[in-house]
Amino acid sequence: MTSLTDLTAWKKLTSHHDSIKSKHLRELFESDNQRGQKFSLEACGIFLDYSKNRITSETVELLLALARESKLPERIEAMMTGEKINITEDRAVLHTALRAPADAEVLVDGENVIPEIHAVLDKMSAFCDSITSGKWTGHTGKPIRNVVNVGIGGSDLGPVMAYEALRHYSNRNLTFRFVSNVDGTDFAEATQDLKAEETLFIIASKTFTTQETMTNAHTARTWLLDQLGADQSAVAKHFVALSTNADEVSQFGIDTDNMFGFWDWVGGRYSMDSAIGLSTMLAIGPDGFREMLAGFREMDEHYRTAPLDKNLPVLLGLLTVWYTDFFGSQTTAVLPYDQYLKRFPAYLQQLTMESNGKSITLNGDHVDYDTSPIYWGEPGTNGQHSFYQLIHQGTHLIPCDFIAFAKSLNPLGDHHDKLTANVFAQGEALAMGKTKQQVLDEGTPEELAPHRVFEGNRPSNTLLIEKLTPAVLGKLVALYEHSVFTQGVVWNVNPFDQWGVELGKVLAKKIVPELQASTDLAHDSSTNQLIERYRSLK
Ligand code: F6P
Repeated sequence: MTSLTDLTAWKKLTSHHDSIKSKHLRELFESDNQRGQKFSLEACGIFLDYSKNRITSETVELLLALARESKLPERIEAMMTGEKINITEDRAVLHTALRAPADAEVLVDGENVIPEIHAVLDKMSAFCDSITSGKWTGHTGKPIRNVVNVGIGGSDLGPVMAYEALRHYSNRNLTFRFVSNVDGTDFAEATQDLKAEETLFIIASKTFTTQETMTNAHTARTWLLDQLGADQSAVAKHFVALSTNADEVSQFGIDTDNMFGFWDWVGGRYSMDSAIGLSTMLAIGPDGFREMLAGFREMDEHYRTAPLDKNLPVLLGLLTVWYTDFFGSQTTAVLPYDQYLKRFPAYLQQLTMESNGKSITLNGDHVDYDTSPIYWGEPGTNGQHSFYQLIHQGTHLIPCDFIAFAKSLNPLGDHHDKLTANVFAQGEALAMGKTKQQVLDEGTPEELAPHRVFEGNRPSNTLLIEKLTPAVLGKLVALYEHSVFTQGVVWNVNPFDQWGVELGKVLAKKIVPELQASTDLAHDSSTNQLIERYRSLK
């Protein structure tokens, strides 16, 4: 089998990297005063300035050639038309169908899936209207005021990120909480000030078997019934399920009339725009949710139809390949300069790393190149007073994605100009740095000068968008989803399975009873010792 490293474009990129790796961004900007304009692109209302990357026109051409040699356009088409590209689970991958219009047609096993997607959306809308209008009442006849989403991974990170991101547009009469960790503290703190009679639990789990979620769901049921002094019949008014598994949902005691379904071809980390988004819809209303879907859709269309060199997700994805495989970068920082996007990096961690954190190719071979970098980040400007030191002067090369907005949703005095000045300043400082001569010219003593030098030549992308709206959030998420797919296609891995989470889950199930009774232990000496010590301390 041909490996990625055998491809012509890969070989050319290897020697091209040798020839440009020592070029400084200062030099590249000085030699072309149109560089900023040359390496910028606007699509779907997102302006991407990628000129502060360690690239030339030749780099871009070679990366695009790599995408073509990796058959990216064909793979995009295969994904969007419902081919079973998730080969290890024999599934189609159709999160893009979730945002397709009602008159679209996408076939899975010969069946058009669009009508059922819209039927679920309509059912979600009707449910949200009944909650917000007060028509839906709890067991004691009171309207719902609190919504608690219980889920983990894709059944939590998307909903909590979207709730925080779109809080400005949210219904402030409802209180939203998110419980994910199996640590009882998460449930206890999320519910300690809530009245059960006004609380709706959304149990979000694709499989409805996930240990953390089912434990929290059982605790929620006990909490509710104890507080209400009610029997099982109260569950119907306070619990709904978001799942693909109707049998498990009814076994838990939730009427399947109160279940909002989705399908095995929606991956957990790609599910925030499916029924898993019920809490988002409750927060921003059905119209806001549909606006968000339209944003996703616009980016899907762009990804599918724009030429590769004018394609935002393609360029972002290829730049990640460039740094990971040619510069040896281990991480990528995502730095949103918007407080509402504070959970966006956490959301992206699952999207990117659960997708492309793989080392076996689609052909079953071990890769001989690096795959997904570690994604991390915090909202600006907080990160500046924490870890940016390392990005500026540390020994690692950390490509950064800055995300900025021209308009604030909370325009207070000159806060927004200061915020935006900071994001532009960071990109400039990282790229241009400060030479020893500049430091000395400022009157810094010779012995201190090395400490004050900024090498620069540290790459970044800047995404500049007019304003954060539901549609923009949809576009941003789809941008990263497709960037991840682009990377996965080049690396020839399956971004849609997650076998790597299984072993820990299986072992944890085995260890639970061992913590509860003094049975014989047959683990390694370290694990045995930890279990024994826990038993004696608990
Ligand atoms: O972490 C593994 C995983 O399977 C994720 O892919 C998924 O988002 C999460 O667990 C939750 O799964 P479920 O929605 O089935 O509870």
